[in-house]
Amino acid sequence: MPSNTSTSSATPRDTMTHLDFFKKFKRLNPLEPSLGILGFFLVTTLLICCFLYLDYRNVNHGLRYHGISLSGLVVPSSSESTGGESGRLGFLDKGGDWCDIFDGNWVWDDNYPLYQSQDCSFIDSGFRCLENGRPDSFYTKWRWQPKYCNLPRFDARLMLEKLRNRRLVFVGDSVGRNQWESLLCMLAAAVPDNSSIYEVNGNPITKHKGFLAFMFKDYNCTLEYYRAPFLMVQGRPPAGAPKEVRMTLRVDTLDWTSPKWKDADVLIFNSGHWWNHEKTIRGGCYFQEGEKVRMEMSVETAYGRSIETLIDWLHKEVNMSKTRVFFRTYAPVHFRGGDWKTGGSCHLEKLPDLGSVLVSPDYRFNVIFDVLSKHSNESLVMNLHLLNVTSMSAQRKDGHASLYYLEPSSGPASLHRQDCSHWCLPGVPDSWNELLYTLLLKPELVHAQNLTESSKAAFETT
Ligand SMILES: *[C@@H]1O[C@H](CO)[C@@H](O)[C@H](O)[C@H]1NC(C)=O
Ligand SMILES: *[C@@H]1O[C@H](CO)[C@@H](O)[C@H](O)[C@H]1NC(C)=O
Ligand SMILES: *[C@@H]1O[C@H](CO)[C@@H](O)[C@H](O)[C@H]1NC(C)=O
Ligand SMILES: *[C@@H]1O[C@H](CO)[C@@H](O)[C@H](O)[C@H]1NC(C)=O
Ligand SMILES: *[C@@H]1O[C@H](CO)[C@@H](O)[C@H](O)[C@H]1NC(C)=O
Ligand SMILES: *[C@@H]1O[C@H](CO)[C@@H](O)[C@H](O)[C@H]1NC(C)=O
Repeated sequence: MPSNTSTSSATPRDTMTHLDFFKKFKRLNPLEPSLGILGFFLVTTLLICCFLYLDYRNVNHGLRYHGISLSGLVVPSSSESTGGESGRLGFLDKGGDWCDIFDGNWVWDDNYPLYQSQDCSFIDSGFRCLENGRPDSFYTKWRWQPKYCNLPRFDARLMLEKLRNRRLVFVGDSVGRNQWESLLCMLAAAVPDNSSIYEVNGNPITKHKGFLAFMFKDYNCTLEYYRAPFLMVQGRPPAGAPKEVRMTLRVDTLDWTSPKWKDADVLIFNSGHWWNHEKTIRGGCYFQEGEKVRMEMSVETAYGRSIETLIDWLHKEVNMSKTRVFFRTYAPVHFRGGDWKTGGSCHLEKLPDLGSVLVSPDYRFNVIFDVLSKHSNESLVMNLHLLNVTSMSAQRKDGHASLYYLEPSSGPASLHRQDCSHWCLPGVPDSWNELLYTLLLKPELVHAQNLTESSKAAFETT
């Protein structure tokens, strides 16, 4: 059961897009929409083949002529980046920084996925769509291509090397666990002996555990996940609170587990899916500040307060010169015609929306930006990186587990109980992690680039 899915259903804007999409099919063939879809697939496949061919030539060309090897590591240069389109600079190249890597398109790439779910034991059964019976695998084949620059090719060994003796920690809800498991698989693909990767307490991966930490022994590095869907403390109400208050969320106090992760080297937060009426006030969970229960405080206001609290906490508790802090923005859900309880659906979605999808003005998209811009003159906030994945993920209505979140023995779920908030793995969270990888690499690469420049110069003068 996708128990922690958000309740928001398809937004008006979403619905419009779907309607438009459907109308287009209808126009192709007014009598037989399914034939229209078939035709669309054929055309798409043809186009994709053309792109692939061109892309392939470029990439090969790039690798052969521009790869520069630096003490055994291939330093990505623009031409080696996955994009392969010669006009674009690599994000990691000199002068590539200005490029917004979250502004781009999904392009078909036959080199994807980066791993197979059967080869990775770290995935929850809830995300193993292929093994749970999902018939199509198109959703594993899309690569994120920024509009104005290219991303470096994901190199698991380089990332592990970068994480040597370090702790990388995800804190947030189950979509955070979705991303954490994706990164485990992406990195494990470069480790030949899988027994050298283990959970530090010997725990299996399940959605019921609040804390899991995997050690990559050869690198002395841990990838950790802490479940804190609100990021704030949730607990018993203070004495004397009104009867209807069964629980409170203390919007001024970070989760009790925070001392365990404040010293991590990389911290990746997310929240949003649980900040809705149903998971709070409707269930008798009100908001609390100090010793006062704020009966009248709205979910939206409370969410804003929680982000303020997070920023204050970073100021007080986290050494920002040691810890790199990321906040991954809300990952949209794609329930159409209802929510997860009322028959909302996303199965049969086999293709992304390749045009850009306007993200609806939902508070979960906006609050984080508002709070951050209010603090934008503070150096801390300038060191806080956003993984601004909301609009790129909004295009991926095809990427969710839908009916295929139950183990093969249970068969597909009921049509009325679809999971349109978590993502299949391999899939969309892999792309978030490629962007995380790119940002983690950036400072190191400025340095490497300098070395590269000098080694190039040396090569030319000899
Ligand atoms: C996040 O990305 C979207 C799409 O590229 C963009 O419109 C928006 O301005 C970005 N927000 C921030 C704060 O970078
Ligand atoms: C290691 O690989 C074997 C064979 O592929 C598999 O059975 C086992 O579950 C894997 N263990 C881990 C920890 O990934
Ligand atoms: C392993 O990494 C931790 C930090 O995460 C560090 O404190 C410890 O000294 C490292 N151990 C070795 C053997 O390098
Ligand atoms: C913060 O981290 C840096 C880099 O690790 C270290 O040099 C510095 O002493 C730390 N500052 C504090 C207050 O712990
Ligand atoms: C940021 O700007 C606000 C007013 O816009 C000001 O009150 C605050 O002191 C500034 N903070 C810093 C660190 O400059
Ligand atoms: C790279 O080189 C430039 C000058 O060539 C220098 O100003 C800059 O500080 C160097 N960057 C790093 C990270 O070493």
